[in-house]
Amino acid sequence: VTAVHPTQAIVDLDAMLHNLERLREHLKGKTEIMAVVKANAYGHGAVPVAKALSAAGVRAFGVAFVDEGIELRRAGIQEPILVMGGFVSEQVAALVGHRLTPVVFHRDQIEWLAAEVGKTRPSSGIPVHVKIDTGMGRLGLHPHEVPAFVQNLLGKKGLVLEGLMSHFADEDLADTQVAQEQIALFLKAHEKLKGHGIAVPQLHIANSAALLSFERSWLSWVRPGITLYGYFPSRKLEQTLPLKPVLTLAARITHLRTVPAGTTISYGRTFTTRRESRIAVLPIGYADGYPRALSNRGTVLVRGRRTPIVGRVCMDMLMVDVTEVPEAALADEAVLIGRQGREAITAAELADQTGTIPYEILSVIGVRIPRIYRGALPSP
Ligand SMILES: Cc1ncc(COP(=O)(O)O)c(C=O)c1O
Repeated sequence: VTAVHPTQAIVDLDAMLHNLERLREHLKGKTEIMAVVKANAYGHGAVPVAKALSAAGVRAFGVAFVDEGIELRRAGIQEPILVMGGFVSEQVAALVGHRLTPVVFHRDQIEWLAAEVGKTRPSSGIPVHVKIDTGMGRLGLHPHEVPAFVQNLLGKKGLVLEGLMSHFADEDLADTQVAQEQIALFLKAHEKLKGHGIAVPQLHIANSAALLSFERSWLSWVRPGITLYGYFPSRKLEQTLPLKPVLTLAARITHLRTVPAGTTISYGRTFTTRRESRIAVLPIGYADGYPRALSNRGTVLVRGRRTPIVGRVCMDMLMVDVTEVPEAALADEAVLIGRQGREAITAAELADQTGTIPYEILSVIGVRIPRIYRGALPSP
């Protein structure tokens, strides 16, 4: 018998496919979507998300790390999987063995890959994508290093230069000079390779922000993450497409009682009831990724109404004051992210309240919380 955890993340795959369709309409067939499913598909569960997207015709996936790619391969995902976040030498055998596509940006990677391919697959080469740092200041070659790096790569038997990629630094691209400069540097690096007679079949630089607001950056592929999950990369780009949030975070009330005025709630006794109050305990805490910063600040939906979090959020629990919701009962479902009746709490709202971005709110939802899938379930 599988124990049912009293807090669940309900992932609406139909909503995700709705988002995919809105992105496709927006792109008008001018480019292909590589779905970014790193960090457990931003908390939504990488395998079911990738399976649903694959069934809907998505032809490539992006992850940060080798082990994320292996998880998808083991689950039967056949499409190309780009490992965007780098790798160390100990991972090269697994990377090649699972037919993952490495993104490369320093010479040691080329040596490791060439040695591995020489050992294991002498005849069929492996595709690689080269990363250029055009202004993000994170991974990548300086544009002027690209020609020599690529010449070296092409000199290795079994390595095939399939792609050239970069990444934008700003979340609101349309207005920024920096984004214009980034794309110019990227295209110039490609032109220079072409000048040396080197054709690179796949070019990609656009994340969700660029997909939404910067058509010139679309190129061969676009790499959306956050928009697939129904959120926007910035407040400024909000509602530029009619996307639907995919994830609902819901918890059952595990304890409910009436306490007298003057009762203090939770660690540090930071909240004291001013009246006789009904206090509900929810089985979710900061160990599940619910921000402790929402202590005495956040709200939770109970019976379609907003109820305030009182006292500090604990590791496994938090308390809400349901005095204003007299019909609230033990085992009721409370919604921490999502819709209940006419009210909704979004990950964007929690992000604003805690000084972060929806990406963080979603991707840190903990491993203790089971993901429950609704909608277009892919065949097993
Ligand atoms: C290299 C790379 N490409 C694409 C994405 C997707 O970005 P977004 O979720 O903003 O669409 C990310 C995520 O940050 C990334 O690191």
